[in-house]
This record gives sequence, C-alpha cells and structure tokens, in this order.
Amino acid sequence: PRSRIEPFRIKMVEPLKFTTRAQRADALAHAGYNLFRIEADDVLLDFLTDSGTGAMSCAQWAAMIEADESYAGARAWRKLETSFRRLFDFAWLLPTHQGRAAERLLFAELGGPSARFVANAFFDTTRANAEATGATCVDLPGTAADHAAGFGGNIDLDRLRAELATGGVTAVVITATNNAGGGQPVSLSNMRAASALCRAASVPLVLDGCRFAENAHFIRTREPAMASASIDEIVRAMSALFDVMTMSAKKDGLSNTGGWLALRDDALATRLQGRLIMTEGFTTYGGMAGRDMAAVAVGLEEATRPEYLEYRARTVAYMAERLVAHGVPVVTPPGGHAVYLDASAMLPDVPRAQFPGQAVACALYVEGGLRACEVGALMFGADAAEAAGRRELVRLAFPRRMYTQAHFDFAIEVCVRAHELCKAGQVRGMVITQGADSPLRHFSATM
Ligand code: F0G
Repeated sequence: PRSRIEPFRIKMVEPLKFTTRAQRADALAHAGYNLFRIEADDVLLDFLTDSGTGAMSCAQWAAMIEADESYAGARAWRKLETSFRRLFDFAWLLPTHQGRAAERLLFAELGGPSARFVANAFFDTTRANAEATGATCVDLPGTAADHAAGFGGNIDLDRLRAELATGGVTAVVITATNNAGGGQPVSLSNMRAASALCRAASVPLVLDGCRFAENAHFIRTREPAMASASIDEIVRAMSALFDVMTMSAKKDGLSNTGGWLALRDDALATRLQGRLIMTEGFTTYGGMAGRDMAAVAVGLEEATRPEYLEYRARTVAYMAERLVAHGVPVVTPPGGHAVYLDASAMLPDVPRAQFPGQAVACALYVEGGLRACEVGALMFGADAAEAAGRRELVRLAFPRRMYTQAHFDFAIEVCVRAHELCKAGQVRGMVITQGADSPLRHFSATM
C-alpha cells in the first residue's frame, strides 16, 4: 500500500466552492485574464504554487499551540535549531520570514556592481535580489547527458570550471531541486564536484535548498551509489558540501511561512546578523513568530520521512504519466513539485508574442476551475524567453498533502479537455492591455 495511498488521513476539512463555467468566464474577464488577480475562493483546485500552501499535520498544530512567543531565546527557537541541526551542519542559523528575505540579506552583503554570481539556474527572486545590487547573474544549466541521467538540475561543470578560472566569480549557487528548470534534481556527485571546484578556487558555494528533501529523495532513488543511504544521511552529505544555505520553509519546511540563512563563516555570519536584526528581527526569531518556528521544526522532520517523499514523487509522476498517455505534451521526466505542460506544443500556431502559456492557463481555469502558472513569455518577456531558448510552459505546482488522488484525476481530465480545445483551434493567443512594462508584470498585467 505504501506506494499507492496517501500516507495520512484527514481530520480537518476545508470545503471547496464549485462554480459554473459561466461564472469562471466572468471571474476571469473581471481579473483581466490574469490568474493572480482571481479570488482564491473562485478556484476549485489551486496549483498556482507549492509555496506555503500545504496542509499542516496535527503534530505541527499541536507544536504551534505549545510554542512560546518570547522575544529572545524562545523555546520554539531551540526546537527549530535542534530540528535544523539534525539535518544540516552549518554553524550559524539566521531565521527569516521566508526565502527571499534570506536572499536579500546574503546578496546585499556579497553583491555589488562588480559581483558575478553563477548558478545551475537562479530562481526569479534570487536573481532579482542579486541583480538589485548591480551584480551579474549567469545560469549554467545541465547538459543533455545530465537530463538523460535523471539529474536535469545539475550545474554544467565544464562551464563552471571555465567561469572559476577567470577569477571573477563572487559565489556559486546551486538550486536543488531546480525550480526554474522544471523541478529537476541535482545529483550528489554533481554537488561534490562543484564543491571541490569552488573550494579549490576559494569561492563560496550556496545551496538554495527550498526543496532539499525532494532532491534527496531523487538522489536516493536515481543515484546508484546512494541507494542504501537514508534521507537524513543524504541531506547531511549535501549540506557538508556548501558554505551557505538559503531556505524557504514554505516548501520542504511544510510550513505556511518561514525560512533561514545558514552559514559557516563566523565573520560573514556576524555581519549578516547585524543586517538580520536591522530588517527581519532579533537573531532568535528573525521574521517568524514562535509558532511558525515550531511548525517548521516539526515540518522538517515530517518532510524527510521516506514514505512522505515517496508519496509526493509518486503523485507528480502519476499525473505526468496519465497526461502522456492521453497525448498531452508535458515536460518529462517530471520533477519533484510540479507538472509542466508544454504550451508551445499544445498551441504550435500561437506565436510566443501572443502568450500561448497564458492562453492554456486561462483555458484550464475556464474549463475546470484549475489555477496554474504561466512560465514563459508573460513571465520573462517574449524576447528574453526566446533568447534563453525557453519553452512556453504552464506549471501545475502541487501543494503538499492537500489534494487526494480523486482531485488529481479530475485535474488530469481538465488538462486533457483543454488540450482538445487547443487542437480544435478554440484557444487563441492573447495581448497585454495594461502593465506590459511593469517589473514582474506576470503578477499584475491585464490581458
Ligand atoms: N528559491 C526557490 C528555488 C524558490 O522556488 C522560491 C520560491 C524561493 C527561492 C523564494 O522563497 O517564496 O519563501 O521567498 N518559490 C515559489 C514558487 C514562490 O512558486 O515557486 P520565498
């Protein structure tokens, strides 16, 4: 049963609101065809993000009630530290309100106009925080061989070696799993090689570890040398290779909020603690309430349980397999937290400048009340997306422990229906009517 049923049962429920097709068409028009502007109550199944949207366990809720809200040295902080130290061996733990706060602190300290950061792929807020300091960011995504080996999130080691040889790299970031690249994992051997190169060049290596547990699961199942290691052992082995870690506990912390910046270097950590106190909060809570820290402490323990990770990966793989079986173009193999529909293949006649990804995302909503996220020309700009060789994608990110298999079966049906509408020529391109030039326009533009 372990691979076939959800490894939890439900004891608190939140009703879904059912809407008619006409109501959804209305709501969408009212929102300017931007799914970020829709009321969440008008969404039936929300796959907009896996960030902070998951269901907490009874153990987490119990820990939240038990948690104290002391300003300094809270019991809840000790609990978080203990849980963190079970998995990670960084000397310093600086709590933050979410992942991008950790990024802002780190890049404000390391960045600047002469700084150069390279990564397997920067997540958009990470890149934005680095670039806001005037720094340059370069993606070095994995090769076809990395993808073939099931580790499409790897950093290109040849290009990394060449970058480091110039002497101009400030820090290297590995995002695991690689959200910008479809949630693909990074192998332990790739991290080991990157770490050896960085240490030889005295360049700090940063782990963007939002989905560290999902990445560890893929290492365990796909990297033969690690097949008999436990998840905890793999996470510890990963963390030993890095000098810094940024974390959004909204993902593999199984919490609705929270994050951290973890470090080894005393001098750097001391400077960053000063910044932390100035903008996030005192060193034993950062941007979190005591109850949030308690939720993360328990969440870390639950997110690294093998049966939970097997269920999570299996759910993503199940949806991708069913869609492939129905001929719906999806990115394969699927990653750890989402299924990505390939809108360029679904709407081959809609040019990138007419936002095929957004058109498919709108069709999913009108057809079945699904909310997904365009990852294409609307998010990146048509020219930039073209230049980066990106496909027009639609991400269905899976909130953790929230939906049952019946929900996923329905979501699959809606995707199949939307694909049929695309083939029948009933899904057309779109134009931006307002907000085309605003930064991060996908959150606010109307279509
Ligand atoms: N790094 C990665 C790889 C992420 O996916 C995210 C957030 C962050 C950093 C920032 O963390 O949201 O806590 O500030 N990703 C969410 C998503 C928003 O939908 O993929 P945050």
